[in-house]
Amino acid sequence: MILHDNGLFLLKNDSFSYLFKVGKYGELQHLHFGAPVEITDADCFACIPGPGWGSNLVMDDADPHSCPDFIPLEWSGSGRGDYRESPLEIGRATDLRYVNHRILEGSQPMVCGLPQAHGDCETLEITLEQPGLRLKLYYSLFDTALVRRTVVENTGDGEISLHKCMSFSMDLPGNYIMTTFHGGWSAEMRRMDNRVGGAKITNESRTGASSNQHNPGFFLREAGTTENDGVAYGFNLVYSGNHYAAAQQSQTGLTRVMQGINPANFCKVLAPGEVFETPEAVLCWSDAGLNGLSRAMHKFVNDHIVPEYWAGRPRPVLYNSWEGCVFDFNQHRLLNLADRAKDLGCELFVLDDGWFGVRNNDHCSLGDYNVNLKKLPDGMDGLAKRITAKGMQFGLWFEPESVSPDSDLYRAHPDWALTDEFTPILGRHQLLLDLTKPEVRDYIVSSVTGILDTAAISYVKWDMNRHSVALGAKAHDYILGLYDILRRIFGPRPEILLESCSSGGNRFDLGMLCFSPQVWCSDDTDPIERLTIQGNLSYLYPQSTFGAHVSAAPHAQTLRATPLSTRGNVSFFGCLGYELDLKHLFPVEITEIKNQIAFYKQYRALFQYGRFTRHALGWQVSDSNMAISGVFHQQVSAAPPYERLRITGLEKEKTYRFRSLEQKIRVGQFGNLLKHVVPFSVSPSGLLVRTADAHYAMPDGGEDRTATGAALASGVMLKPLFRGTGYTTDQRNQGDYGSNVYIIEPVE
Ligand code: DGJ
Repeated sequence: MILHDNGLFLLKNDSFSYLFKVGKYGELQHLHFGAPVEITDADCFACIPGPGWGSNLVMDDADPHSCPDFIPLEWSGSGRGDYRESPLEIGRATDLRYVNHRILEGSQPMVCGLPQAHGDCETLEITLEQPGLRLKLYYSLFDTALVRRTVVENTGDGEISLHKCMSFSMDLPGNYIMTTFHGGWSAEMRRMDNRVGGAKITNESRTGASSNQHNPGFFLREAGTTENDGVAYGFNLVYSGNHYAAAQQSQTGLTRVMQGINPANFCKVLAPGEVFETPEAVLCWSDAGLNGLSRAMHKFVNDHIVPEYWAGRPRPVLYNSWEGCVFDFNQHRLLNLADRAKDLGCELFVLDDGWFGVRNNDHCSLGDYNVNLKKLPDGMDGLAKRITAKGMQFGLWFEPESVSPDSDLYRAHPDWALTDEFTPILGRHQLLLDLTKPEVRDYIVSSVTGILDTAAISYVKWDMNRHSVALGAKAHDYILGLYDILRRIFGPRPEILLESCSSGGNRFDLGMLCFSPQVWCSDDTDPIERLTIQGNLSYLYPQSTFGAHVSAAPHAQTLRATPLSTRGNVSFFGCLGYELDLKHLFPVEITEIKNQIAFYKQYRALFQYGRFTRHALGWQVSDSNMAISGVFHQQVSAAPPYERLRITGLEKEKTYRFRSLEQKIRVGQFGNLLKHVVPFSVSPSGLLVRTADAHYAMPDGGEDRTATGAALASGVMLKPLFRGTGYTTDQRNQGDYGSNVYIIEPVE
């Protein structure tokens, strides 16, 4: 609901209220973003700015309370007395005042080609003006989020150089901690918490992409806010390029927060009559802690960001060829892998890099999307037919934005590469194509659709493996070019499941999610690393968007050996896949993977779309009927303490069965300790143990109990961890990196 009364605006949904007013001088004063309140409460939030003292400026010399530096604002100018960071820079003073507003059903469609949230909403359009400049602020109210964006229009008769225009700016009263997520290749989403004070905190990417270095999503929380209690604000940007966010506390204790396209090197010249649209920014609020905030953000992404066709739709269990084969495959090997993947229960077979040109390593052929008939003699159509005949779907990898200098495309069109006036610098031996050029976009669209339309392809992995050299406005135009390409390819083919990837999670953002319902979280598939990566992604994004694969151990990225059970248990909390050479699996592993996939399929809806909760021992997914909880360990300690697992969100009175997913422990894991459990002498590296290890696994301490929802919420005392007193099924005998999954269902 959006209400207007005498210069006051209330935007209210079931989760929060957002209140602001037109001040005496036409400035927009921020009043409240928080618990649902009424428009009549505005007086409670009105801030009476102290008289401008010392060196401060005032809007009206006769009114000492008109110091713009002291007022909580929805938008602020430059050079006119508000010396806090301005959301708008055009190289001269700005002082935009309210002119009028409109309340619209739905959202106001964007015209520049940026992706936009979809679905039911109401939109408030506020127009501000100064001579020669018009600004429109859009506020679209969805069920769990407010979406803001800005449109600048040159209404004068000369050019305007736009150096900076944020999607939103707002002044919140109070003290906050800003949480941001940083990292690099295979080490995405490291969380950082910084208190917001007088020194500005920024979160920005400059690589041309949203980046694995600084994810655009962040939040502000009060100091006492925990996972389950307290106030927190969440912010994110529907954009895949260079982003910027800043938070800083003013002299009067207001926290100015803003987000938009990174102004670094940015300059867009607006001719008279020309407009510039910013990407949408998403704002959420919760007083139910960070879990509450995440749920609001998850719902928004699931319902209003991912393509409508895929909203709530089950995601297939996939097998991906990359980690198992890299570039070393042919049709025979792929079909053999497909047989094995099908037998395990996989539903989709994905052929990754290496199927085109002469791409037998990563030094060549990007850009030449002609099928390598030496590897695939029946062509892509032939391979797809053979895979689909096995009862699996078929998916294919592309990296369409890049070009190898050693490619026919580059030899024919060196000017299509995105370069600057210096000698080209390479990343992963490749360049980017200049997506600002229409002929480049046409080439990409026709080469990708040329493959998609001749073979039964129901999934595409869209990769991108280098940072950009484009700066500022060109970097922005590149992203607009990318969105144009994605729209043209996948708009008419909505049923193709697109998974975006950029060296793993180098482009995990709401812009890409508008086209691709899934994102490959990281090239790091070590489950212990994934606890950090997926766990921290879960603050901002729903688990339906996480590509999460089981791969081989020891892991390629960490050399860490982890149990297959833990690799599965972590990957369950996302879109499950397998990415390893299936030929080398032991019979005991084949059985375990079959069980994992069957279990995941049974509870797929809960894993992909259930209500996600981070808890002290791991993660939980639940709906109104049941819950599944994962408990994950890193390095164990000797004589470990008891663990109590709380199951939340169930009905207090109802009785539930609490049981563990059956897991077994490989015999070989016990090494020379086997001498304690078998009545004869045995060599831990001998044939007997090696054979037993491949075929036989020992039961581990499972759970099967019955309790009310109230008791489960208080916490189940789990079977103890191994304590050095011998193997028994009354304990969890897991060792380092062990984990369990517990299923909690009502007793009929
Ligand atoms: C980088 C991706 O992150 C990997 O999953 C894989 O697709 C390779 N590119 C292929 O070159």
